[in-house]
Amino acid sequence: MTTATVNPVNNDGLNPVTTQTWTNGRHMVRCVKVIQETWDVRTFCFMAEQPVMFFFKPGQFVTLELEIEGVQVMRSYTISSSPSVPYSFSVTIKRVPGGQVSNWMHDNIEEGMMIPVHGPVGVFNCMDFPSDKVLLLSGGVGITPVMSMARWFFDTNAEVDMVFAHSARTPKDIIFRGELEHMCSRISNFELALICEKYDIGESWSGYRGYLNHTMLEMIAPDFMDREVFCCGPTPYMRAVKRLLEEAGFDMTRYHEESFGETPAEDVENAVESAEQAQEDLEALDNSDLITVEFTQTGKATKIAPGETVHAAAAKLGLHIPKACGMGICGTCKLPKTSGDVEMTHNGGITDEDVAEGFILTCCSVPQSDVTIDF
Ligand code: FES
Repeated sequence: MTTATVNPVNNDGLNPVTTQTWTNGRHMVRCVKVIQETWDVRTFCFMAEQPVMFFFKPGQFVTLELEIEGVQVMRSYTISSSPSVPYSFSVTIKRVPGGQVSNWMHDNIEEGMMIPVHGPVGVFNCMDFPSDKVLLLSGGVGITPVMSMARWFFDTNAEVDMVFAHSARTPKDIIFRGELEHMCSRISNFELALICEKYDIGESWSGYRGYLNHTMLEMIAPDFMDREVFCCGPTPYMRAVKRLLEEAGFDMTRYHEESFGETPAEDVENAVESAEQAQEDLEALDNSDLITVEFTQTGKATKIAPGETVHAAAAKLGLHIPKACGMGICGTCKLPKTSGDVEMTHNGGITDEDVAEGFILTCCSVPQSDVTIDF
């Protein structure tokens, strides 16, 4: 992977008829704009070198493939833009104390840089759970996927009754405030509630204060029990929201959540350690129990114990298959399987079409017989 700087954007190539559409996979994209949203949050907008219409389901995410200090790092971010504006897509990232990737993005990504991106994927989206009444709940920079949903509903004049309740630390931390207020002022089916944990001396604030609780939710959306709920924010925030809804007797099949932030990628040391451990485990096993995993392009093969993944087999051989979530969500580790059977326990990171064509997600595929992988 390389990051490179190229010439500024030339929009002459944009043509809705000839432009390709985005499909899940690896694409080179160019940063075309960096927008300072709040004092510590920036939006990075990307376009493809050859114009591509970035269609995706609002709420889905992409995985950026970066090179930080010579090490390849994969990191997933939910898309904050809407597919109703399809010529580019955006991710919105907050600086995090000690956050390696987020801070690197803030310090290094500028207009003109090219980076590879994988996606879009994700089961958290408003298209797979259609509803005419939604409650969008977000905390901090977890606003990004629900903002994508709100923008989509707004831009497409969807007949969806929206209540958007966003929690921030202080008024100056509210991301997309101007745009949210603009949407709220334009259409009658959009209610906005902004909740601040506190405000600084001299700062004026007329919105809700404190943390979202049952009483506040009753005021914000008295009919919340009838709504499809999409929630994203820090883990304690989502835990509190979930508890609140459960205690209210909410039908939790209508509750959808997404975590966000820095997902640690597998680091090399861990990979080596687990490979060594796997080797010790192997030596204790009967040879007939072992399964052979062969990587045909590189001509390497190894034996693994039942229950180990294809990705673990590659790591054992020193083969680097890109990986981000490690949970079958992001699709980064997708490869073609040319023979054998695997049991794949994924979380939406692969389509039925890809599976029918023989692709697997190596991070969550456990061989059930000897297998060959095209890598
Ligand atoms: S690493 Fe994300 S699906 Fe395998």
